[in-house]
Amino acid sequence: MSAYKHKDGYYRKAKKEGYRTRAVYKLKQLDDKFHIFEEGDKVIDLGAAPGGWSQYAVERVGEGNVIAIDLEHIAEIAGVTCYRGDLTEDETVKRIIAETGHTDIVLSDMAPKFSGNHHLDQARSAYLAYCALEFCMKALNRGGTLVVKILQGEDFNDYLSDLKKRFKDVRCSSPEASRASSSEMYVVAKGFIKQHKD
Ligand SMILES: C[S@@+](CC[C@H](N)C(=O)[O-])C[C@H]1O[C@@H](n2cnc3c(N)ncnc32)[C@H](O)[C@@H]1O
Repeated sequence: MSAYKHKDGYYRKAKKEGYRTRAVYKLKQLDDKFHIFEEGDKVIDLGAAPGGWSQYAVERVGEGNVIAIDLEHIAEIAGVTCYRGDLTEDETVKRIIAETGHTDIVLSDMAPKFSGNHHLDQARSAYLAYCALEFCMKALNRGGTLVVKILQGEDFNDYLSDLKKRFKDVRCSSPEASRASSSEMYVVAKGFIKQHKD
């Protein structure tokens, strides 16, 4: 564990409150601002490990309504169904949708392994954000919501334009819990309007 993490207030708060990551406060701040969840909504959390966002989502929507997927193993979370798989692969997407069906909310905090080269990292982050959008095209209910992370950079505006073609209301936010040094941005897109792809 790095000394940096120990100094971080959100990290300590997460430890104290029983959350697996400080990232949970980013989702909470987005939820406070944009009112993302309703009790009983179904939620699919893409890139969910170690599980902070899923822990928060299950508190908001209730047990049995959250599905979490990641490349990495996710340790059991009460009320959450966990899968392991690569969401850039069609087979994974098909398997998840076949097993879980359509959803009201898609969350994607997916992030690539960072190389330190901003252009490369930004392009990889945009690719994962597009995979989340593709997932919505196949699995999100009409009127549904996508919350997605993307690094700011050359692909950012194109991505926003693509989201605006498919959602009625698209807002960007950099939650206070994001590190000041980070170029990450979260987009909350509500009112899904596109027909499903098979
Ligand atoms: C910042 S972490 C997510 C943290 C999570 N929101 C939480 O609160 O615990 C990003 C995650 O994206 C996952 N990821 C990256 N690429 C992926 C892919 N192609 N398929 C599935 N998961 C992926 C990583 O394995 C990593 O666990």
